[in-house]
Amino acid sequence: MATVWVLFIFLNFDLLLKTGQCAETSGQVLSITPNSQEQVEILKNVSIHYQTVLWQPVSSDYIKEQTQVHLYVPANSSQTVNDLLHRHSITYEVMLSNADEIIEMQMRNDSTDPRSGATFYQRYHTLEDIYDWINRTAKDYPNTVKVILVGSSHEKRPLYALKLSLNNRPNKKAMWIDCGIHAREWISPAFCLFFVHYSLLFYNQNQAMTQILDNMDVYVLPVMNPDGYKYTWTNDRMWRKNRFPKKGTPCIGVDLNRNFDANWCTRGASDYPCSEIYCGAFPESEPESQAVANFLRSHKDSIQIYLSIHSYSQMLLMPYSCTMDEAENHSELYEMVKQAAENIRRYYRNIYTYGPGAKTIYLAPGGSDDWAHMLGIKYSFTFELQDRGRYGFLLPPSHIQGACNEALTAVKTIALKVMEKS
Ligand code: ARG
Ligand code: ZN
Repeated sequence: MATVWVLFIFLNFDLLLKTGQCAETSGQVLSITPNSQEQVEILKNVSIHYQTVLWQPVSSDYIKEQTQVHLYVPANSSQTVNDLLHRHSITYEVMLSNADEIIEMQMRNDSTDPRSGATFYQRYHTLEDIYDWINRTAKDYPNTVKVILVGSSHEKRPLYALKLSLNNRPNKKAMWIDCGIHAREWISPAFCLFFVHYSLLFYNQNQAMTQILDNMDVYVLPVMNPDGYKYTWTNDRMWRKNRFPKKGTPCIGVDLNRNFDANWCTRGASDYPCSEIYCGAFPESEPESQAVANFLRSHKDSIQIYLSIHSYSQMLLMPYSCTMDEAENHSELYEMVKQAAENIRRYYRNIYTYGPGAKTIYLAPGGSDDWAHMLGIKYSFTFELQDRGRYGFLLPPSHIQGACNEALTAVKTIALKVMEKS
C-alpha cells in the first residue's frame, strides 16, 4: 500500500513539475516525420489510442515513412504524447503551440463581434449567420439570385444553393460550386460566400468575371454538411463527417466525400463507422450527398463545370481519385489545373500542386468530383485551399482574403478555358 502511495505522489509531483515548466497548457499541432517502420507503428498507435486528431494524412492507415504527419494534440494529452515521442526518439516540430487559443478566438470572431475591424467576408460565420446571409443576398438581388432548396441534412437542416444568373441569355451553360462537405474546413464556406459576393459586385467591373457570368449561371451551395459545420462551432472544432449516428456503434458520421457512387468503398475509404473516412452503408446513403447527386443528375445537361472546395494543402485536383486510371480527357484537365496553378503563382506567389487526386494525394474513392465526372460533367475539380499545414484547419481569419483570391483565380482560369472549348 505504501509503495502505491509513494508512486502516486511521485507521479503527481512529476506531472506538476511538467505542467509548471510548460507555461501554457494549450493544445498543440505537431508535425512529425517518421523515419522507420517502428516509428510509423508508434504514430499509428498514438493517433488511434490517445486523445488526438490526425490532420494529415486523413486516416492512420496512410501514415508512412518519410512523410509528414500533422497531429492535433489537445492540452490534456499533450504531456503524455510528448513523453511518448521523446521516449522513442521521434522528433517533431511544433507547428502551432496555441491551438486552443486560436480555436477559442475563431469561435468568438463571428459576425456579432464588434471589436473586429474585418469585413464580413474576412471572418468565419456560424451556420445561422450563413442562413441569414443567404436570405439577405436573395432579397438584395431579387433579379439575379435565387435560393434553391436542394434537400435537407440528416438533422433536417435545409441545404440551400444560390443560383446566380446575371444575364438572361437563353440556353446558358452552368457551373456548380459546393463548399463545406467537410465540417472543419472553415475556409471552404468562407470561399463560397466570398465568391457570390465577388460575382455580384464585379459583374460588369471585372472583365473575366463578366465574361464568365455572361456565358454561364453559377450554382453555389455554401454548406453541404450543415450538421457537421454546426457541430464544429458548438462541440468539436475538428469534426469532419456528417452527423449520422450508426446504429449498434458508438460512432457518428459518414464521410460525405466517400459516399458517392464512384468505386464506392474500395481502397482509400473505410467500412468501419468510427473511421474518419467511413463510406456509409451504401452509395448516396446520406441525405446530403443524395441531395447534391439528385440535383446534378437533373441538371447535367446544362452543368459543364463541377467544383468542390476543401482545405488544406493547396492543391488543384482533377479526376480520378478513385482509381489510378487516367480520365479520358486527362490532358485537357491537366492543362487547366496547371494553368490555374501558374496564375496563382504569378499573381500571389503561392505554390499549388496539381494533378489527378489518386496520384497527387491518395486513393480516395466515392468522391463527388469523380462521380460528377462519370456522370458526364467533364470539367470536374476539387480544390484544397490554404494553407500547407502551418495553421491547417485553423487558418486565421486574416488569411481568408488571400486564400479566397487564390481560389478565385483558379475558378476564373478554368471557367475561361472551358468557355474557349464550347
Ligand atoms: N482531401 C479530400 C478528401 O479526402 C480530397 C478529395 C479529392 N477527391 C476525391 N474524390 N477524393 O476527401
Ligand atoms: Zn475536405
